[in-house]
Amino acid sequence: MGKLPSVVAHRGASAVNPEHTLAAYRRAIEVGADALECDVRLTADGHLVCVHDRRIDRTSNGRGVLSTMRLAELESYDWGSWKQPWADLDEDAELPQLDMRKVLTLETLLATVRDAGRPVQLAIETKHPTRYAGLVERRLIEALERYGWAHPKVGTESPVRVMSFSWLSLRRIRTAAPGLRTVLLMDRVPLRFRDGSLPTGVSYAGPSLEIVTAHPEYVDRAHKHGHQVHVWTVNAETDIGRCRELGVDAVITDRPDAALRVLGMD
Ligand code: G3P
Ligand code: CA
Repeated sequence: MGKLPSVVAHRGASAVNPEHTLAAYRRAIEVGADALECDVRLTADGHLVCVHDRRIDRTSNGRGVLSTMRLAELESYDWGSWKQPWADLDEDAELPQLDMRKVLTLETLLATVRDAGRPVQLAIETKHPTRYAGLVERRLIEALERYGWAHPKVGTESPVRVMSFSWLSLRRIRTAAPGLRTVLLMDRVPLRFRDGSLPTGVSYAGPSLEIVTAHPEYVDRAHKHGHQVHVWTVNAETDIGRCRELGVDAVITDRPDAALRVLGMD
């Protein structure tokens, strides 16, 4: 069997912690995840925050469309208590402290990665990036530049890669920061890319678990074209084992602790 897949904590260790909170990311780092995944959205006053949904209703005690709100308003809500009752999820889990369940800015997550105490990678997904004429990508690159992570020197790699379902968004990233790795997320593989190739300039393939379950041959095809394969969202232990057998390069999972155990890396 070849190299083990790297373990990417999807929205943090989000099975037992509220997704996209500092609590979820700290836990993922503690259990030994190789990488963290986050979604980013732009607030009305131009901050990138780590939130999955267009509306804030599901993951906070506020209501409304995130892009119409300023960061200060988002910071006034509780982004953790929605995930109770804790005992149903994990008898050891506790509601995180208030400062660990605030809305998380990308800036805070970047600082968390920098200060992790060991190398940790970050996979950032741009959500609905075709809006705002490239502003999400510009703000993202500016943030990465502040950490020296946007333009890696030849022979080095940024700890950050950018993922998107949008090829346009990845093209914008590549134009602004040609040295950054990109992942094209796919919930179906377009006909012209079924041979395992990808649009020019895209580094890695990001198929759903459903794709590689129905078409396991896709993994070898992408490898033959020199592309790593990062599969989402792989939570069941049998699926994690199957991804290992298929030789995928990364499993994106809500359960990084379980994945590390199944892969014998804990
Ligand atoms: O990591 C890729 C995966 O996160 C894409 O789907 O809806 O969870 O952002 P979603
Ligand atoms: Ca995502």
